[in-house]
Amino acid sequence: MPPATRIKILHVVGARPNFMKAAPVIAALHGRAEQVLVHTGQHYDDAMSRVFFHQLGMPKPDVDLEVGSASHAVQTAQIMIRLEPVILEHRPDAVVVYGDVNSTVAAALVAAKLLVPVAHVEAGLRSRDRTMPEEINRIVTDRLSDHLFTPSPDGDENLRAEGVPAEHIHLVGNVMIDTLVRLLPAAAALPVRERLRVERPFVLITLHRPSNVDDPDALGALMGAIGRIPPTHEVLFPVHPRTRQRLAASGRSVAANTRLLDPLGYLEFLSLQRQAAAVVTDSGGIQEETTFLGIPCITVRENTERPITVSHGTNVLVGRDPKRLLAELESALARPAMRPPAPPLWDGRAAERIAAILLEAA
Ligand code: UD1
Repeated sequence: MPPATRIKILHVVGARPNFMKAAPVIAALHGRAEQVLVHTGQHYDDAMSRVFFHQLGMPKPDVDLEVGSASHAVQTAQIMIRLEPVILEHRPDAVVVYGDVNSTVAAALVAAKLLVPVAHVEAGLRSRDRTMPEEINRIVTDRLSDHLFTPSPDGDENLRAEGVPAEHIHLVGNVMIDTLVRLLPAAAALPVRERLRVERPFVLITLHRPSNVDDPDALGALMGAIGRIPPTHEVLFPVHPRTRQRLAASGRSVAANTRLLDPLGYLEFLSLQRQAAAVVTDSGGIQEETTFLGIPCITVRENTERPITVSHGTNVLVGRDPKRLLAELESALARPAMRPPAPPLWDGRAAERIAAILLEAA
C-alpha cells in the first residue's frame, strides 16, 4: 500500500507571546502532519525568543526570516516579502498564525493571497480600540482566515456579528493555558523568589504598551504610582526592551522600592506570577494567566479584548489613572485570596482540539 499522504502545516511565529501559543499546537500535530516552523525574527534577543524555544521544548525553526525591529509598515512588509517564497517553496495545506502581532497579520496576508488556507489561533478577540495596533492585526487576520479558533464565547459572538460563517468558527479554548498547565510544576520547582532574595510578599509589574510607555508623562505618572506601593510589599518589575529604552530616555530615577529586572524566561515569570500578591500589567496574556491562577490583576488599560478575565476572573481595568491603580491595588492586597474556577475549555487540551479540526479539514 502506498503511504498515506500526510498534510503539511506551516506555522508562523515571531514575537514573545506567540511562542507559548504555538508550542502546544506543534506538539499536538507531532507525528500526524508534516510541519514547517517559520520564525519571522520580529523578536530576536535571546531573552525575548531563544529562551522560550528552549523552555517550551519547541523545535528549532526551519526558517528564520530575521526581520528585526522597524516601523509597523516596514516590519509587516519585510515579513511579507521574505515569507512569500517560503510558502511558495513548501506549498503547505494550511498556514497557522497566532495571536495579534505584526507577524500574525503579515503571514495571513501572504498565505491568503497565495490561496493557502489560513488558521488563526486566538481568533475573535476585540478591544474595539483601533488605537491599538493589535486590534487592527486581529480584525484583518480574522477577515482573511478560513479556520478561526476562539478561546472563549465572546470571540464567537464578535465573529458572528462581523458576518463570519458559523462553520468557520471553532470554540476550542485557550492554548496559552495548555502551556501553563503543562509547565506549572516545572515553574513551581524553580527557586526564583529565593534567588532574587525576595523576603516580603510582592507585587509583580509588567508594562510595555506604546500607549503607556512611549509618552514620557504617562510613563512618569505610572512609575510614580508604582513607587507609592506600600512598603508591606516588594515590587518586582521585569522590563521589556521597549520600556527599558523609554525609561532610560526619560532620565527619571526609579523609586527605591522598585526592583527593575531583565526580561524573564517563561518558567521564571510563571514562578513569580503564581506567588505574587498581585500583578499590575498591560499585557493581554498575563490577564489570562492570572485569571487561571486566581491572582489579582490590575490592568493598566481602558479596555480589554479579553473581557472574560474581568467577568470570570480576578482582573480589573484601571486605565492610565495612577490613583485608580493604587486604590484597586490596595483593595486587592487587603482581600482574602480568591480562586474562581477557570473559564470553560481553559483545561490544557485546546491544542488537541485544534489539531483534530486541522487534520479533519485537510
Ligand atoms: C510586540 C507586539 C505586541 C506584544 C509584544 C510582546 C506588535 C504590533 N506588537 O510589541 O503586541 O504584546 O510584542 O513583547 O506586533 N526589541 C528588542 N529586542 C527584541 C525585540 C524588540 O530590543 O528582541 C526592542 C526594539 O527596540 C523594538 C522595541 O523593542 O523597537 C519594540 O519591539 P516591537 O517588536 O516593535 O514591539 P513590542 O513592543 O515588542
